[in-house]
Amino acid sequence: MPNLLITNIKELIQARPKAPARVSGKEMQQLPTLKDAFLLVENNKIEAFGNMTDCPKRADQIIDASGRMVFPSWCDSHTHLVFAASRESEFVDRINGLSYAEIAEKGGGILNSARRLREMPETALLESAQRRLEEVIQFGTGAIEIKSGYGLSVEGELKMLRVIRKLKEQNNLPIKATFLGAHALPIAYRQNREGYLQLILQDMLPQIADEGLADYIDAFCERGFFSVAETARIIEAGAKYGLKAKIHTNQFNSMGGIEASVAGGAISVDHLEVVNEAEIECLLGSQTMPTLLPSAPFFLNDHYPPARQMIDAGLPVALATDFNPGSTPSGRMSFVLSLACINMKMRPEEAIQAATLNGANAMELDRQLGSITPGKLANFFITKPMPSIAYLPYAFGSDLVDRVFIGGMEV
Ligand code: NIG
Ligand code: FE
Repeated sequence: MPNLLITNIKELIQARPKAPARVSGKEMQQLPTLKDAFLLVENNKIEAFGNMTDCPKRADQIIDASGRMVFPSWCDSHTHLVFAASRESEFVDRINGLSYAEIAEKGGGILNSARRLREMPETALLESAQRRLEEVIQFGTGAIEIKSGYGLSVEGELKMLRVIRKLKEQNNLPIKATFLGAHALPIAYRQNREGYLQLILQDMLPQIADEGLADYIDAFCERGFFSVAETARIIEAGAKYGLKAKIHTNQFNSMGGIEASVAGGAISVDHLEVVNEAEIECLLGSQTMPTLLPSAPFFLNDHYPPARQMIDAGLPVALATDFNPGSTPSGRMSFVLSLACINMKMRPEEAIQAATLNGANAMELDRQLGSITPGKLANFFITKPMPSIAYLPYAFGSDLVDRVFIGGMEV
């Protein structure tokens, strides 16, 4: 493969000769950058970077990035990008006064998506998911996690996970698949919770694991969805099949989901709109990545996770979109960064760390992605001309991601 040289980069972001697996607490403010830089790509990988004074003279392709910045791709570690239909009627229901929980209680919400998914053929599901994936790649995402969870039956969950496998095959950005059978209790099981748990544990999980369809396991630990004890059983069962956990918890209530996830060795706990001090303490003693999804409280007009308190206590945080038709119909990472800065008081540098290196860590991809580091995959984007790093979250309505590269190839 020919090599590629980017020259005259105004500022090369997250430039690290050697990268740590994650950044926590005060380190999150220390975003390493290099002004007036070059970046050399060879064989899909980052070969070198440095100051323009040391720039190689020749390359097969040269791109002049004068006035522009280069960022490592966003690592979006939490999405539900495979779904059958949008849910704007629930958006209007909320404008008229219903809450997310009330809509779910009436059989809307996740169950609405499950009904639509059942009716949609696998090929159509794949096609719409592929279009969404292409959209978020243009937004600068270069690695992504995608969950099942709108199947809620053996057939439906397998269908979703097969679609995710096809997405892996037909795209060259890293994709992680998460099995989320415990997303909502199907109506047919309202009087038989244990029956649905058994369906997940005895029927779905073994088949999914046998076919290698999932990298992780998830559960929605929340009042009206799955209890802490049920979540703990899901985590434990997943572990038996080698699936580590990434858990939806503390979106609306603090019930013990964080403790159970940490005890089960979860890779990440996601949402965390409602978190207390004991839970922050618990996370401090763990390797579990707190993952914040501020477009969900933005869209539901709810309150935001206490990111400042978490980082000041010494925790790492990751940022992800939660792209889904119910609580976050957007896969735009730059907007997530704006929300993190505006509503969670994260500094632009911290938000960038959370959306790159820490996001990669929340998908166990930190050795391949998340920073501009020699040997890592050449997934990055060139911005439009911009004056400073803070301009990216500041100009929340502009699309500043100009040219996108995955494995060194322009997309
Ligand atoms: O992360 N909270 C649970 N799951 C999704 C929403 C799913 C839906 O409403 O379709 C979330 O917000
Ligand atoms: Fe989610």
